Amino acid sequence: MALPRLGILISGTGSNMKSIVAACESGEVPAEVAIVVSNRGDAPGIQWADDHGLECLVLSHREYATREDHDRAITERLRDARVEWVCLAGYMRLLSAVFVDAFPNRILNIHPALLPSFAGLHGQQQAWEYGVKISGCTVHLVDLELDHGPIVVQRAVPVLADDDGTRLAERILVEEHIAYPEALKALLTRPWRLDGRRVLFG
Ligand code: GAR
Repeated sequence: MALPRLGILISGTGSNMKSIVAACESGEVPAEVAIVVSNRGDAPGIQWADDHGLECLVLSHREYATREDHDRAITERLRDARVEWVCLAGYMRLLSAVFVDAFPNRILNIHPALLPSFAGLHGQQQAWEYGVKISGCTVHLVDLELDHGPIVVQRAVPVLADDDGTRLAERILVEEHIAYPEALKALLTRPWRLDGRRVLFG
């Protein structure tokens, strides 16, 4: 049987992309990475993906008049690549309805905090500055609000006495690389449904 086809969207380093690619290649996640898309040509992750032999595409948001135009161009290319699931992996753009409606409940995002706390940029630094004793990461389905949709997986990371935002971010990233494959595997291999905001696995 054909494996579900993933599209991964990045804007930067792409370490979460690499963890997804590795999990697909090892068979831990029963899926195939069909295409990697970056909105930035200088994203180190897109060079890695190209070197790795993955289909790659750079579509800069600067070349489109509106967010919707940019999102439409990306969704068309994802459709061309027969993508069924979209993984946002450090993709630093809010998605418009054009994008979200093209893949209903089939877009995932990872955020470096325990949502709904510390959404937005620099979630790790926000958590450290706030003084929480436990932070972590969240993999969630994407809706129209920033870092907001139904939660699939969370992993906790204790904040240590001698942490700063950078050290905490490094330890959260280790857990992100476990959480994203874990969430994908669960959604692709187990029956699940939504009950309001709650993702229920059967
Ligand atoms: C990750 O920490 C991810 O959780 C965060 O960007 C980083 C990307 O790293 N995403 C967000 O903050 C989304 N709100 P990566 O490019 O090495 O995967």
